[in-house]
Amino acid sequence: MSIEERLVKIQAAYVGNLSAQRLQEIREWIEKIEVIKNQKNAVLLGHNYMTPEVFFGVSDITGDSLELARKSAQAKADIIVFNGVHFMAETAKILNPSAKVLIADSTAGCSLAESITPEDVRDLRQKHPGVPIVSYINCTAAVKAEVDVICTSANAFHIVEALPGNEVVMVPDGYLAGNVAKTSKKVIHAWPGKCMVHELFTPRDVEEARLRFPQVKIIAHPECKSNVTDKVDFTGSTSRMSSYIEETHPEQVLLFTECSMGDNLRAEHPGVEFVPSCQSCPYMKKITLEKIYDALLYEKDEVTVPDNVREGALHSLQAMFDLSKV
Ligand code: 13P
Ligand code: SF4
Repeated sequence: MSIEERLVKIQAAYVGNLSAQRLQEIREWIEKIEVIKNQKNAVLLGHNYMTPEVFFGVSDITGDSLELARKSAQAKADIIVFNGVHFMAETAKILNPSAKVLIADSTAGCSLAESITPEDVRDLRQKHPGVPIVSYINCTAAVKAEVDVICTSANAFHIVEALPGNEVVMVPDGYLAGNVAKTSKKVIHAWPGKCMVHELFTPRDVEEARLRFPQVKIIAHPECKSNVTDKVDFTGSTSRMSSYIEETHPEQVLLFTECSMGDNLRAEHPGVEFVPSCQSCPYMKKITLEKIYDALLYEKDEVTVPDNVREGALHSLQAMFDLSKV
């Protein structure tokens, strides 16, 4: 996409509300980032929750956590700048250790990743001997190294079903586990971690939306509570939300997820009306064009994973790729 085309998308994502001055600033940052990225043979990966200027403006590859993990493993670049949160950049480093992995703000965390430690996983293993432990990818490298297999929101059900036995321990997202439990016959021992963004949506929000917008299709992320996902039209990973809209062409949608997701989808689907409903992730919002430029210029903040941790974490990620049916 030319810079001009990217700016058109960004303006569309913001419903034409960007001032000429802000648009000019965005253009200048994109141009500066483009030059330095080429000089340094860098590739920029961007999660679906990035703001439109980061998502459309400078990210070479975009997607959900599973897609970005796969792409980061394949990236042939000296530098990967991960436009997302820290556990995602760590995953890229685990999968592509020869690349220098940078994140524009190393304090871009995640409430789920912060909710569990490697010691917690060891305690769970003692409590449930012989039971496989699956962790949502939203966890630190040290937690990845302790568990048996990783899953993402796109493949959680398939991974749980593919594991041996009738019991599984799922960490750290208790709500994702609750959503998997709706269709799995296995006994799931869930860790009570929560996404601070998706836990804010309630069944009442669904009821009120249906009264106000009777035609609306409501789409939720599986980090929402199961009493919310029970009532919506579709539940899926951030990229699945996008394919649902592409495949079903709804006239009006409401997304129970992070705000930039709806902005980015709006630019891609001009015929669809997006009813405002979102919650903002303060961690994702730490990634800005200005900080991405500095990250490239000064080659900071570098994300590293100690070799002994990387080995175990890679094993759990590889187990996911081997079992994944998506
Ligand atoms: P996805 O894997 O669906 O992109 O989700 C990542 C995430 O952090 C959602 O809050
Ligand atoms: Fe973590 Fe929730 Fe933010 Fe995703 S939206 S990065 S799960 S805090």
